[in-house]
Amino acid sequence: MILITGGAGYIGSHVVKEIAQAGYDVIILDNFSTGNRAAVDALHTLLKAIPGSGRIELAVGDCGDETLLDSICQQHHIEAVVHLAAFSEVGESMQDAAKYFTNNTAQTIYLLNSMKRNRVNHLVFSSTAAVYGQPLQTPITEDHPLRPTNVYGMSKMMIEFMLPRYRANYGLNYVSLRYFNAAGADNSALIGEKHRQESHLIPLVILRAMNKKSQFTVFGDDYDTPDGTCLRDYIHVSDLAQAHLLALQALLKGNITERVYNLGNGRPHSVREVIAAVEAISGRQLEYDIGPRRPGDPSILLASSQRAMDELGWQPQYPQLQDIVASAWKWHQSENW
Ligand SMILES: NC(=O)c1ccc[n+]([C@@H]2O[C@H](COP(=O)([O-])OP(=O)(O)OC[C@H]3O[C@@H](n4cnc5c(N)ncnc54)[C@H](O)[C@@H]3O)[C@@H](O)[C@H]2O)c1
Repeated sequence: MILITGGAGYIGSHVVKEIAQAGYDVIILDNFSTGNRAAVDALHTLLKAIPGSGRIELAVGDCGDETLLDSICQQHHIEAVVHLAAFSEVGESMQDAAKYFTNNTAQTIYLLNSMKRNRVNHLVFSSTAAVYGQPLQTPITEDHPLRPTNVYGMSKMMIEFMLPRYRANYGLNYVSLRYFNAAGADNSALIGEKHRQESHLIPLVILRAMNKKSQFTVFGDDYDTPDGTCLRDYIHVSDLAQAHLLALQALLKGNITERVYNLGNGRPHSVREVIAAVEAISGRQLEYDIGPRRPGDPSILLASSQRAMDELGWQPQYPQLQDIVASAWKWHQSENW
């Protein structure tokens, strides 16, 4: 059985689907702090329709609750942990550092210690492009220096620094996945991106096009980029999920013992291009405000994911921005939770 923390969240629910449909039994551990119980219900429906899927169970609680973790490990044969549970609002992390260091760093240490006690030796860890900070070169490769400019990135980087010690001292095999901008939704449109406080560009623009949000702001149109707005690397959430399955299988087969991978599309898209893609699919011309740059926002964030392609055999299936936006649009149109 595979333990997936944060499996009721946006990316986590897609990872649960991918891993369960490959036949693994999954136990989701989530405290619903930012996730949705309805995502777990939707996963049951979705997986029931896919022959050969593994079972999914739900444990409600904290990913750092050692008593709960020990009991999960004792009741189930946990082969590996996929650890996605975390807070991920960059702006909030700069206002409330303790919240991020506690949830993302301290809670993860308790999880790692429980894994050690219960001899669970395989971990797929959700890291982030935020560990890099302002890029020194583009596209960013995994050996780029880690110089995060926000607390969120620091809270993840600290775990990345610890993992080699858990490997050396206790034999933990791990893969750390540094995602760039996750976007889109499962093609069933039964699961998708739903944050209580939406801060991500694609859902914000879609919600505006659906009249569910008021005017939005583009932060800076004077960057040194072709249209003046920031360039980002959007990766379809189902492609991210696929990489988790490949990483998990490589760990379980013993092909990998410790490795870090970037996960991005390698294609930069500007804020204005995202808005244009939503305008095209919604058939609406959108008005928006231009605000000042946000401190610390690099003009371009672009991944090299060559290592994941070469070593894991990963290949994004939905690299086109139009397809990513279309899947998000379909989810928002049919969203029933
Ligand atoms: N969304 C992105 O573009 C992006 C980019 C890079 C990295 N990430 C990372 O991916 C992971 C998932 O992000 P997401 O966008 O799906 O966010 P999300 O908020 O939708 O999902 C996080 C899930 O973890 C749960 N959770 C949080 N803290 C917990 C705790 N202490 N115990 C148990 N459950 C807890 C939440 O309830 C939620 O279900 C995070 O680790 C995030 O840092 C996300």
